[in-house]
Amino acid sequence: MASITIRNLDDAAKQALRERAARNGRSMEEEARILLGGMTAEQPAQSVTRSVPGELTNPANRIPVSQGGNSANSALLGKVILLVITGGIASYKALDLIRRLRERGAKVSVVMTRGASEFITPLSATALSGEQVYCELFDRIGEHDVGHIRLARDCDLVIVAPATADFLARMAQGRADDLASAVLLATRQPVLLAPAMNPAMWNNAATQRNVSMLRDDGKHIVGPGKGEMAESGESGVGRMAEPLEIVAAAARLCDTRPKPLKGFKAVVTSGPTHEPIDPVRYIANRSSGKQGHAIAAALAEAGASVTLVSGPVTLRDPDGVATIHVETAREMQAAVEAALPADMAIMVAAVADWRTQVSAGEKMKKTEGKGPPALLLEENPDILKGIGHHANRPRLVIGFAAETNDIDKNALGKLDRKRADWIVANDVSAETGVMGGDRNTIRLVTRNGIENWPQLDKSEVAHRLVQLIAHWFATNTVEV
Ligand SMILES: Cc1cc2nc3c(=O)[nH]c(=O)nc-3n(C[C@H](O)[C@H](O)[C@H](O)COP(=O)(O)O)c2cc1C
Repeated sequence: MASITIRNLDDAAKQALRERAARNGRSMEEEARILLGGMTAEQPAQSVTRSVPGELTNPANRIPVSQGGNSANSALLGKVILLVITGGIASYKALDLIRRLRERGAKVSVVMTRGASEFITPLSATALSGEQVYCELFDRIGEHDVGHIRLARDCDLVIVAPATADFLARMAQGRADDLASAVLLATRQPVLLAPAMNPAMWNNAATQRNVSMLRDDGKHIVGPGKGEMAESGESGVGRMAEPLEIVAAAARLCDTRPKPLKGFKAVVTSGPTHEPIDPVRYIANRSSGKQGHAIAAALAEAGASVTLVSGPVTLRDPDGVATIHVETAREMQAAVEAALPADMAIMVAAVADWRTQVSAGEKMKKTEGKGPPALLLEENPDILKGIGHHANRPRLVIGFAAETNDIDKNALGKLDRKRADWIVANDVSAETGVMGGDRNTIRLVTRNGIENWPQLDKSEVAHRLVQLIAHWFATNTVEV
């Protein structure tokens, strides 16, 4: 199979790919793969069809998909990040962080402490950042124009990753006895700290005091997470946040785009539900949660405060979203109702219609000559309908309809039966690859009409939908 090397593309193509990847929050390789995939899968944009009474607005007024951007990560495009690497076991992860930030279009300048140079070399950081790496405060060349002040000021964000216990203590005290601490004292830019240390060091009252002082001083903290430590046999809280989590936190801090949904509360459901048959077997469906999670993330990027109620999925919880994990339809319904009142409900989950009447307490045994057991089913609650008719009904209720036939008719029926405002209908026939796949072809059904959208990446669907939601809250109209 032929392979493509991004390094060999001409500069203009490389730049266009870099910008697109940054906008979409993906690596250049991922973006190239999706672009090439899209060329074979892309369908021509379909026209707006009108199938129920109501005025269609001028299609020219509709917002092109590309305007949405695909992730808060696009906020890093063109930003200058000063990355301070201090000396701990996790220092090597800072090299991956440099790469991830650059993939998203950021310029990365690096300051390393002496401690950091014991773990990784300035040469590796130079090679990955493509910039000179700064280590010394008393540097005759670097300081001819008081370089540490310049470094502190000429950036959009300072990230300290990893941030050692000792460095946090120095920052909290306002020390300036090496280049890294001097830069941190001199900067007026936002500062993001990614602590990394042994759990005993993290839990020590002195570290907790320092972290709390730094928080009060307005510093932002990402992590640390829980897990195995480099020291054998130790685990607990102290692992540095993963590079992609740091990137997401950095993107949020650099995101200066308007937040049209700031002050609005959203509840979103996502993924399948699992209905137990016995302790090891369950009824499920092929929903991956990719569409619901993408919508929750896009709403959070637009400034909404989002509660995501997720069935069992293998996806990471979206950044900046309060995620509640459930298994069954009844648990999902209870979690959604507990999240009310909300301004909007977007019910994306593929909730199992039925559950077994009885779930066996022990694993059902296969008995020779007895044949298979009969599974008696009963209906699960209809979560969308429940929300549509709820005393605390959100102002905007959107349901997803996964259909394999009569898509428009079924979706229109659902609008009324469930008291939904919009139905996002998608064809989930096996050949579409929508269930579990990365792309979706949907029809937005409202009382104003039906709009066919071209095949899009699920995150593009999410951004397009969120733009319409923001427009609806601003004007009380939908541009369909
Ligand atoms: C092998 C080794 C691993 C270390 N790992 C960590 C660590 O993960 N976190 C931490 O806070 N300190 C760690 N330390 C201690 C720091 O390196 C030490 O406090 C140093 O003074 C930090 O300096 P800096 O913050 O200026 O880089 C480690 C030390 C050694 C020798």
